[in-house]
Amino acid sequence: MAAFQLLFPLLVSCVAASSRPPRHLPPCQVVQMNVFCSDLSLRSAPDNLPHGVQMLDLSRNQMQNLTQETLAYHTGFRHLNLHSNKIHFIQPGLFKDMTDLKVLDLSRNHLNVFARSKINIGPLTAVESLDLSSNGLYTGMSDYFLADSPLLANLSLNSNSITKIANNTFSGSLALTKISLHNNVIMEIEGGAFDSLNHLTELDLSKNSITCITDFNLYNLKLLNLSKNSMESFQSTESNDRYHLLSLDLSENKMLYFPLLPKKNMLKYLDVSRNQLQSINVTGNPDENTTFHLNHLRYLDMSFNQLKSIPESFFSGMGLLEVLNVSNNCIGSFSITDKFHLRRVKIIDLSYNSLQSLTFGKNTLQSLEKLFLQGNDLTTLDHQIFRRLPSIKHLHLQQNDLKICASDQSHQDSPDCVSFTSIPNLQYLYLSDNNLRTLPANAFANTPLILLDLSLNPGLDMDKDSLSGLEHSLVHLFLRKNNISSLNTDLSSLRCLRDVDLSFNQLTILPTWIKTSSIESLNLQNNNLVTLDYSTMLTLEHSLKILYMGSNPLSCCRNLGFLHMVQHSAVVVPDIEKVTCIYEEYSELVNIGNLTPEMCHRAGIQNYVVLVVVIALLVMIVLGLLVRCCHTRKRKHSRSFRA
Ligand SMILES: *[C@@H]1O[C@H](CO)[C@@H](O)[C@H](O)[C@H]1NC(C)=O
Ligand SMILES: *[C@@H]1O[C@H](CO)[C@@H](O)[C@H](O)[C@H]1NC(C)=O
Ligand SMILES: *[C@@H]1O[C@H](CO)[C@@H](O)[C@H](O)[C@H]1NC(C)=O
Ligand SMILES: *[C@@H]1O[C@H](CO)[C@@H](O)[C@H](O)[C@H]1NC(C)=O
Ligand SMILES: *[C@@H]1O[C@H](CO)[C@@H](O)[C@H](O)[C@H]1NC(C)=O
Repeated sequence: MAAFQLLFPLLVSCVAASSRPPRHLPPCQVVQMNVFCSDLSLRSAPDNLPHGVQMLDLSRNQMQNLTQETLAYHTGFRHLNLHSNKIHFIQPGLFKDMTDLKVLDLSRNHLNVFARSKINIGPLTAVESLDLSSNGLYTGMSDYFLADSPLLANLSLNSNSITKIANNTFSGSLALTKISLHNNVIMEIEGGAFDSLNHLTELDLSKNSITCITDFNLYNLKLLNLSKNSMESFQSTESNDRYHLLSLDLSENKMLYFPLLPKKNMLKYLDVSRNQLQSINVTGNPDENTTFHLNHLRYLDMSFNQLKSIPESFFSGMGLLEVLNVSNNCIGSFSITDKFHLRRVKIIDLSYNSLQSLTFGKNTLQSLEKLFLQGNDLTTLDHQIFRRLPSIKHLHLQQNDLKICASDQSHQDSPDCVSFTSIPNLQYLYLSDNNLRTLPANAFANTPLILLDLSLNPGLDMDKDSLSGLEHSLVHLFLRKNNISSLNTDLSSLRCLRDVDLSFNQLTILPTWIKTSSIESLNLQNNNLVTLDYSTMLTLEHSLKILYMGSNPLSCCRNLGFLHMVQHSAVVVPDIEKVTCIYEEYSELVNIGNLTPEMCHRAGIQNYVVLVVVIALLVMIVLGLLVRCCHTRKRKHSRSFRA
């Protein structure tokens, strides 16, 4: 039975091979010395491969038994791609004579079947890159492939079922520089497993089940990925030797404490996001004074933890940090007062914390360009806090509870407002959902805003001069969900305005200023617009490219001009499906795309016909009555005559 099972695929492959017309490559693509035979249901390589073929792509075929025969006795390959076949057997020693074979991709096959037979594939004489991912390999099985691979530099064992890395796993492949073990179930790494790999610079252990690293001592490693494990602690050995680690990813683990990093390190990238850090302590002892050796760090992500505070001293050694992400924690107050702390930082993300207090001292954060503060509890801030940030360009303040100062207001007049005037580089300002009540005149004077988002502040009372000063800079203005029934601010002087969002308001007529503007994108979704002034639409059409109009109670027959514009101009209406109008007589909703001018004319004609019919009926009834009347009279007459 077993023999039959083995024979059957062989027979089929022989039949397939013999049925092929001779001296004719099946529909493989030949590009110079590269042959692409992907996805052709092949059971073996075409037997008339051009002489000297360097790259053979046999991925996504039906290969089962990888032998000299199935590779058509060619040995000169440099690159062999056998990804996604059904290979469960490899002829031992097959690669021994392939002295040019540098890249071998065996991913997505059934090599666990081969490994179970405990046969060694023999020397991988020249192979530098080997992909064994998705082969159902479990612990120890990689030994049959790696035992003699002296030049192997790049190895992928991703998506297998390996639970343990033994200390001899890589003893036959001492040239390894990169090992990927992503998506296995590694729980144990024997001491010394990587020690003899002097060239190892990249190790990807992400998505495994590792719970802790206690004596990290891979001095030459540059990239270590431990993301998506169950790590509770990461500790390096106490050593004064220099580590070359540049990037350490510890995200999505269960770390309670900050990792204990080597004293002498060159770490540039550290990701500890999505863990359970409650403080930045390295151990459970809060009194222990730890110094952090992170002089080279550029990127630090501690988002999605449970940090309640970060003492300023934490940043004292991070002179080169450029990105700090501490979003989604429980930080109540944040303060930088020393101008040497975070001197190079460009981006700080403090969004979604519970910040009530934020302090930036004089001459601090001079390089800060983007500050994310959305989703906090900020109500009062130092009046001039943002003016002190000379490089600030993007300011995200949505979902707070701030008030905006008038340009001439001093701190005494209104202690709890924050000023947005004279911030020399601020271009993007997000103030949506702040419960803003008023927007005073000249609120942004001398601040070169390009984008202003004031959405979700229902009932916001905008001074008619609130946006003055933005004439030559403002391009995007967002006023969504502000319960605006008529906009009292004349925006026609905003010469650069291109993009206006007025959706989800109560507008009943088009604001007149849009007539003189050069708006390219206008959003009027979900308002109360019944008729659109045709002359306004006509002028708008010159500049307009995108118009959102859905969910308005438009009248069909009173907006034929608009209809014409939608159908004949280059204006795109992305929500055309939702642009309906009310077809007068029957109060029927008609999609504007289905409306034709004739429908409205026909409606007129129909009315006329109905009127004529009604009049005719009335006349007939009157006539009928008259005739009847005369008739009875006559009868009476005749009766009397008879009597
Ligand atoms: C694979 O092919 C070789 C040579 O043709 C043969 O000896 C071997 O039995 C085959 N193995 C399997 C598992 O089909
Ligand atoms: C290593 O191998 C993987 C998978 O085969 C490949 O994606 C990657 O580009 C290779 N890297 C190097 C440096 O050769
Ligand atoms: C680490 O691995 C995870 C999961 O594969 C990946 O999403 C992440 O980008 C990797 N980290 C780095 C720094 O490359
Ligand atoms: C900070 O991290 C959060 C969560 O991963 C992410 O959504 C956000 O984009 C990051 N912030 C920055 C500025 O990269
Ligand atoms: C929206 O405005 C209307 C009057 O125009 C008012 O009755 C209503 O309370 C306002 N709603 C909100 C949430 O401010």
